[in-house]
Amino acid sequence: MESSCDDTSAAVLINGKIHSNITAGQEVHKIYGGVVPELASRAHQSNILPVVDTALKKAGIAVGDISAIAFTRGPGLPGSLIVGTGFSKSLAMALNIPLIEVHHMQAHILAHFIETKDEAKPKPEFPFLCLTVSGGHTQIVLVRDYFNFEMIGQTIDDAAGEAFDKTAKIMGLPYPGGPLIDKHAKLGNSSKFKFAKPKAGAYNYSFSGLKTSILYFLQKQVAENPSFVHENLNDLCASIQSTIIEILLLPIPEIAKKYKVKSIALAGGVSANSELRTKTEKLAAKLQIQCFIPAFEYCTDNAAMIAQVGWLKYLSGNFSTQEVQSSARLDW
Ligand code: KG4
Ligand code: ZN
Repeated sequence: MESSCDDTSAAVLINGKIHSNITAGQEVHKIYGGVVPELASRAHQSNILPVVDTALKKAGIAVGDISAIAFTRGPGLPGSLIVGTGFSKSLAMALNIPLIEVHHMQAHILAHFIETKDEAKPKPEFPFLCLTVSGGHTQIVLVRDYFNFEMIGQTIDDAAGEAFDKTAKIMGLPYPGGPLIDKHAKLGNSSKFKFAKPKAGAYNYSFSGLKTSILYFLQKQVAENPSFVHENLNDLCASIQSTIIEILLLPIPEIAKKYKVKSIALAGGVSANSELRTKTEKLAAKLQIQCFIPAFEYCTDNAAMIAQVGWLKYLSGNFSTQEVQSSARLDW
């Protein structure tokens, strides 16, 4: 079960292989230009049973066939997490099966080890570097083993996904703006506009300054020409996108050398971005390391990645008790 933000997702994993992965998004937030936590919790409540039911049907199993249930304990929105956690605890109790808590960010990273019933893909070798970029997080993680992670750098303010979504909102694009910036950027000139690339020290990131510089720049331009955004939308999107990606990839070569990593991997919703994918692949080729990017379905929030971590914990008997509580902030 995954319910940390605004996607309700259920997956069925049988003997290490994903047999179904069903996700219900939440359209209700679109008109507000961002996720409204209270509405997200309510939508999870109405979506959770149909999503679980569909996942079971697609996998061809009955609820009584389940031998363990893994769920996202955190981090995420408190109300959203409570719905999935409460559901999972109840199901584990009713079926008298093990309950397995999963850390959402670890799951994004371990999504690289997902195997489906139809295909087995090559997996990253340890140690590898994972750039986890989502609407809530921007982290460079050194992955030494399945459950041995070290945070090398992270954002000190906005996440990369927020940088996409907030600048898209300034340009009048609907939420979530990331995929739309990606779409318009394909038709634009990325060198047309130059934006500041704020630094945050060490290997950390900062994106709030970029958002503010774009806001001031556009306010000035729109005061002179009210159609400025409309007339330059593709070039603006291309310039903003390439700035965000340049900021994201800047520290990677130094870190990759320092920690002698064998691969670089992308995780989180922003790894769906087409330019980030191609630029990371090019960078990996230059550094002579391998590059791993999960299938789109496993980049954004999904339950298959939760099931994957659940499977690894299940194999080692790492179970939670009924006392476990969801946690909006969760260390690893
Ligand atoms: O991992 P995710 O589904 O949810 C969180 O845990 O946040 O990530 C959602 C984020 C949003 O900010 C969305 O705009 C961004 O991923 N995103 C993209 C693209 N697809 C999704 N950003 C840029 N380009 C994309 N193609
Ligand atoms: Zn996520």
